[in-house]
Amino acid sequence: MRWLAAELLAFCRWCNGSFFGHGIRDSVWLFPFVEIFHLLALGLLGGTVVILNLSLLGFRFRGEPVAAVARDVRPWMIGSIVVMLVSGFLLFSTEAVKMYGSPAFQLKMLFLLLAILFTFTVHRKVTMLEEGHIAPLWRKLAAVVCIALWAAVALGGRAIGYVNSSGAS
Ligand code: HEM
Repeated sequence: MRWLAAELLAFCRWCNGSFFGHGIRDSVWLFPFVEIFHLLALGLLGGTVVILNLSLLGFRFRGEPVAAVARDVRPWMIGSIVVMLVSGFLLFSTEAVKMYGSPAFQLKMLFLLLAILFTFTVHRKVTMLEEGHIAPLWRKLAAVVCIALWAAVALGGRAIGYVNSSGAS
Protein backbone atom coordinates (compact mmCIF):
# COMPACT_ATOMS: atom_id res chain seq x y z
CA MET A 1 0.00 0.00 0.00
CA ARG A 2 2.84 2.42 0.89
CA TRP A 3 4.20 1.94 -2.65
CA LEU A 4 0.81 2.76 -4.19
CA ALA A 5 0.43 5.87 -1.99
CA ALA A 6 3.87 7.06 -3.10
CA GLU A 7 3.04 6.44 -6.79
CA LEU A 8 -0.28 8.31 -6.43
CA LEU A 9 1.48 11.26 -4.75
CA ALA A 10 4.10 11.33 -7.53
CA PHE A 11 1.26 11.33 -10.11
CA CYS A 12 -0.48 14.19 -8.25
CA ARG A 13 2.75 16.19 -8.17
CA TRP A 14 3.16 15.61 -11.92
CA CYS A 15 -0.43 16.80 -12.57
CA ASN A 16 0.09 19.87 -10.37
CA GLY A 17 3.25 20.79 -12.33
CA SER A 18 1.85 19.94 -15.77
CA PHE A 19 1.25 22.66 -18.42
CA PHE A 20 -2.53 22.15 -18.20
CA GLY A 21 -2.50 22.19 -14.36
CA HIS A 22 -0.48 25.39 -14.40
CA GLY A 23 -2.40 26.89 -17.31
CA ILE A 24 -5.83 26.46 -15.71
CA ARG A 25 -4.60 27.45 -12.25
CA ASP A 26 -2.93 30.65 -13.49
CA SER A 27 -5.87 31.70 -15.69
CA VAL A 28 -8.66 33.89 -14.30
CA TRP A 29 -11.42 32.33 -16.42
CA LEU A 30 -10.27 28.78 -17.39
CA PHE A 31 -11.12 27.11 -14.04
CA PRO A 32 -14.72 28.44 -13.93
CA PHE A 33 -15.02 27.67 -17.66
CA VAL A 34 -14.08 24.01 -17.05
CA GLU A 35 -16.29 23.88 -13.94
CA ILE A 36 -19.27 24.99 -16.10
CA PHE A 37 -18.84 21.75 -18.09
CA HIS A 38 -18.50 19.77 -14.84
CA LEU A 39 -21.77 21.22 -13.54
CA LEU A 40 -23.69 21.01 -16.86
CA ALA A 41 -22.68 17.36 -17.31
CA LEU A 42 -23.61 16.80 -13.64
CA GLY A 43 -27.14 18.03 -14.41
CA LEU A 44 -27.42 15.77 -17.46
CA LEU A 45 -26.01 12.76 -15.60
CA GLY A 46 -28.36 13.40 -12.69
CA GLY A 47 -31.30 13.55 -15.11
CA THR A 48 -30.41 10.23 -16.77
CA VAL A 49 -29.91 8.50 -13.38
CA VAL A 50 -33.29 9.79 -12.11
CA ILE A 51 -35.26 8.93 -15.29
CA LEU A 52 -33.79 5.42 -15.59
CA ASN A 53 -34.31 4.57 -11.91
CA LEU A 54 -37.80 6.06 -11.66
CA SER A 55 -38.63 3.77 -14.58
CA LEU A 56 -37.13 0.81 -12.67
CA LEU A 57 -39.16 1.83 -9.59
CA GLY A 58 -42.32 1.49 -11.66
CA PHE A 59 -42.96 5.00 -13.03
CA ARG A 60 -43.84 4.66 -16.73
CA PHE A 61 -42.41 7.15 -19.24
CA ARG A 62 -44.69 7.19 -22.31
CA GLY A 63 -45.79 3.66 -21.28
CA GLU A 64 -42.38 2.36 -22.41
CA PRO A 65 -40.76 -0.70 -20.80
CA VAL A 66 -37.57 -0.10 -18.78
CA ALA A 67 -35.36 -1.66 -21.46
CA ALA A 68 -36.57 0.92 -24.03
CA VAL A 69 -36.01 3.82 -21.61
CA ALA A 70 -32.53 2.43 -20.84
CA ARG A 71 -31.68 2.25 -24.56
CA ASP A 72 -32.75 5.91 -25.04
CA VAL A 73 -31.06 7.22 -21.89
CA ARG A 74 -27.77 5.27 -21.87
CA PRO A 75 -25.92 7.26 -24.62
CA TRP A 76 -26.64 10.51 -22.67
CA MET A 77 -25.48 8.88 -19.44
CA ILE A 78 -22.21 7.66 -20.99
CA GLY A 79 -21.64 11.03 -22.71
CA SER A 80 -22.16 12.98 -19.49
CA ILE A 81 -19.88 10.62 -17.52
CA VAL A 82 -17.10 11.12 -20.12
CA VAL A 83 -17.47 14.93 -19.83
CA MET A 84 -17.45 14.62 -15.98
CA LEU A 85 -14.27 12.52 -16.08
CA VAL A 86 -12.40 14.88 -18.46
CA SER A 87 -13.55 18.14 -16.83
CA GLY A 88 -13.03 16.62 -13.36
CA PHE A 89 -9.47 15.58 -14.22
CA LEU A 90 -8.71 19.11 -15.45
CA LEU A 91 -10.13 20.65 -12.24
CA PHE A 92 -8.20 18.07 -10.22
CA SER A 93 -4.92 18.86 -12.04
CA THR A 94 -4.98 22.45 -10.71
CA GLU A 95 -4.89 21.27 -7.07
CA ALA A 96 -3.92 17.60 -7.38
CA VAL A 97 -1.61 17.45 -4.35
CA LYS A 98 -4.29 19.12 -2.21
CA MET A 99 -6.84 16.59 -3.55
CA TYR A 100 -4.43 13.75 -2.70
CA GLY A 101 -4.87 14.65 0.98
CA SER A 102 -8.59 15.47 0.76
CA PRO A 103 -10.85 12.87 2.51
CA ALA A 104 -13.83 14.26 0.53
CA PHE A 105 -12.04 13.73 -2.80
CA GLN A 106 -10.81 10.25 -1.79
CA LEU A 107 -14.36 9.18 -0.82
CA LYS A 108 -15.72 10.72 -4.03
CA MET A 109 -13.29 8.70 -6.16
CA LEU A 110 -14.16 5.50 -4.23
CA PHE A 111 -17.91 6.05 -4.76
CA LEU A 112 -17.27 7.02 -8.40
CA LEU A 113 -15.54 3.67 -9.01
CA LEU A 114 -18.39 1.78 -7.28
CA ALA A 115 -21.06 3.80 -9.13
CA ILE A 116 -19.52 3.17 -12.55
CA LEU A 117 -18.93 -0.55 -11.82
CA PHE A 118 -22.47 -1.05 -10.49
CA THR A 119 -24.20 1.00 -13.23
CA PHE A 120 -22.49 -0.84 -16.12
CA THR A 121 -22.72 -4.37 -14.67
CA VAL A 122 -25.56 -5.36 -12.27
CA HIS A 123 -27.78 -2.32 -12.97
CA ARG A 124 -27.37 -2.63 -16.76
CA LYS A 125 -28.37 -6.32 -16.57
CA VAL A 126 -31.44 -5.54 -14.43
CA THR A 127 -32.63 -2.80 -16.84
CA MET A 128 -32.32 -5.10 -19.85
CA LEU A 129 -34.35 -7.96 -18.27
CA GLU A 130 -38.05 -8.18 -19.27
CA GLU A 131 -40.60 -7.51 -16.50
CA GLY A 132 -41.56 -10.86 -14.91
CA HIS A 133 -38.05 -12.24 -15.49
CA ILE A 134 -36.86 -10.60 -12.27
CA ALA A 135 -38.59 -10.05 -8.91
CA PRO A 136 -39.81 -6.43 -8.48
CA LEU A 137 -37.83 -6.25 -5.21
CA TRP A 138 -34.50 -6.66 -7.09
CA ARG A 139 -35.48 -3.98 -9.61
CA LYS A 140 -36.32 -1.57 -6.79
CA LEU A 141 -33.12 -2.44 -4.91
CA ALA A 142 -31.00 -1.89 -8.04
CA ALA A 143 -32.67 1.51 -8.53
CA VAL A 144 -32.10 2.62 -4.93
CA VAL A 145 -28.44 1.48 -4.88
CA CYS A 146 -27.74 3.25 -8.20
CA ILE A 147 -29.28 6.55 -7.04
CA ALA A 148 -27.45 6.29 -3.67
CA LEU A 149 -24.04 5.69 -5.27
CA TRP A 150 -24.30 8.61 -7.73
CA ALA A 151 -25.67 10.88 -4.97
CA ALA A 152 -22.64 9.94 -2.84
CA VAL A 153 -20.31 10.95 -5.71
CA ALA A 154 -22.05 14.32 -6.07
CA LEU A 155 -22.01 14.91 -2.28
CA GLY A 156 -18.32 14.05 -2.23
CA GLY A 157 -17.74 16.59 -5.00
CA ARG A 158 -19.70 19.26 -3.13
CA ALA A 159 -17.83 18.49 0.09
CA ILE A 160 -14.40 19.03 -1.54
CA GLY A 161 -14.63 22.76 -0.89
CA TYR A 162 -15.67 22.27 2.75
CA VAL A 163 -13.60 19.36 4.12
CA ASN A 164 -10.04 20.38 4.87
CA SER A 165 -7.25 18.47 3.20
CA SER A 166 -4.52 16.80 5.31
CA GLY A 167 -2.29 18.62 2.79
CA ALA A 168 0.57 16.45 1.48
CA SER A 169 3.32 18.81 0.20
C1 HEM B 1 -19.15 11.46 -12.87
C2 HEM B 1 -18.70 11.75 -11.76
C3 HEM B 1 -18.61 13.07 -11.03
C4 HEM B 1 -19.58 13.75 -10.36
C5 HEM B 1 -21.05 13.36 -10.20
C6 HEM B 1 -18.95 14.94 -9.79
C7 HEM B 1 -19.62 15.90 -9.03
C8 HEM B 1 -19.03 17.05 -8.55
C9 HEM B 1 -19.73 18.10 -7.80
C10 HEM B 1 -21.22 18.07 -7.42
C11 HEM B 1 -18.82 19.07 -7.51
C12 HEM B 1 -19.08 20.37 -6.72
C13 HEM B 1 -19.27 21.48 -7.67
C14 HEM B 1 -19.48 22.77 -6.90
O1 HEM B 1 -20.30 22.79 -6.05
O2 HEM B 1 -18.78 23.73 -7.21
C15 HEM B 1 -17.56 18.63 -8.05
C16 HEM B 1 -16.41 19.36 -7.91
C17 HEM B 1 -15.18 18.84 -8.23
N1 HEM B 1 -14.93 17.66 -8.91
FE1 HEM B 1 -16.27 16.34 -9.58
N2 HEM B 1 -17.62 14.96 -10.13
C18 HEM B 1 -17.36 13.82 -10.88
C19 HEM B 1 -16.17 13.41 -11.40
C20 HEM B 1 -14.96 13.99 -11.05
C21 HEM B 1 -13.66 13.44 -11.37
C22 HEM B 1 -13.42 12.15 -12.15
C23 HEM B 1 -12.73 14.29 -10.82
C24 HEM B 1 -11.22 14.20 -10.84
C25 HEM B 1 -10.49 13.24 -11.30
C26 HEM B 1 -13.47 15.39 -10.19
C27 HEM B 1 -12.87 16.47 -9.57
C28 HEM B 1 -13.56 17.51 -8.99
C29 HEM B 1 -12.91 18.64 -8.35
C30 HEM B 1 -11.41 18.86 -8.21
C31 HEM B 1 -13.92 19.47 -7.87
C32 HEM B 1 -13.77 20.75 -7.02
C33 HEM B 1 -13.85 21.93 -7.83
C34 HEM B 1 -13.77 23.16 -6.90
O3 HEM B 1 -12.76 23.30 -6.21
O4 HEM B 1 -14.71 23.92 -6.93
N3 HEM B 1 -14.82 15.18 -10.35
N4 HEM B 1 -17.70 17.42 -8.69
